[in-house]
Amino acid sequence: MRRRQLTLMTLLIGMLGLVLMLTGAQAQDDEHYLGYRQKVMKSIGASMGGIGDILKHKLPFAGHIETHASDISRMSTLIKDAFEKEITEGRTDAKPEVWQDWDKFAAGAETLQEESAKLADIASAGDMAAIGAQVKNLGKACGDCHKPFRKPKEERFKR
Ligand code: HEC
Repeated sequence: MRRRQLTLMTLLIGMLGLVLMLTGAQAQDDEHYLGYRQKVMKSIGASMGGIGDILKHKLPFAGHIETHASDISRMSTLIKDAFEKEITEGRTDAKPEVWQDWDKFAAGAETLQEESAKLADIASAGDMAAIGAQVKNLGKACGDCHKPFRKPKEERFKR
C-alpha cells in the first residue's frame, strides 16, 4: 500500500514537471513571436517618424520621403504573417480583437500597403502640398488599425 502511494506520487510529480516544462517552452516561443511582430511594427514606426521629421522640421530631405514610404509599403506586406499566431498574454499591446476580427485586421494591413505605395508615387513627383495630404491619409491608416486593435497608451506594457 505504502509503496503504491509512493509510486503514484512520483508519477504525479513527474507529470507536473513535464507540464511546467512544456508551458515554459511555449511562453518562450511566444516571446520570440511577440518580439518579431513588434520589430516589424517598429520599423514601420521608424519610417513614419522619419517622414514626420522631414515635414515638421523642414529638413532638406524631401527626396527621402519616397524611400521611407516604399519601406512602409514593403514592411506592411509582412504584417499578416507576423500577427497570425494568436498571442494575447505577456509583453504585447495587441488586443484579442485582432484574432476575433481577423478579416478587418488583414484589411487594415492592406490599406496601409496601398496608402504608403500611393505616398511613394506622389513623393517621386515632389509636390509638397500633395505629399502632406497623402501623409495624412497614411497616418489615418495607422490610427484606423491601432484604435480597434492596439491597447490605448495607459494600458500598454512598460519596457
Ligand atoms: C493592421 C493593423 C496595424 C496597422 C495598419 C498599423 N499598426 Fe502599428 N501596431 C498594430 C498592433 C496590433 C500593435 C501592437 C503589437 C504588439 O504589441 O504586439 C502595433 C504597434 C505599433 C508600434 C509599437 C511597436 C513596439 O515596439 O511594440 C508602433 C511604433 C507602430 N505600431 C507604428 C505604426 C505606424 C507608424 C503605422 C502606420 C504607418 C502603423 N503602426 C500601422 C497594428 C497596426
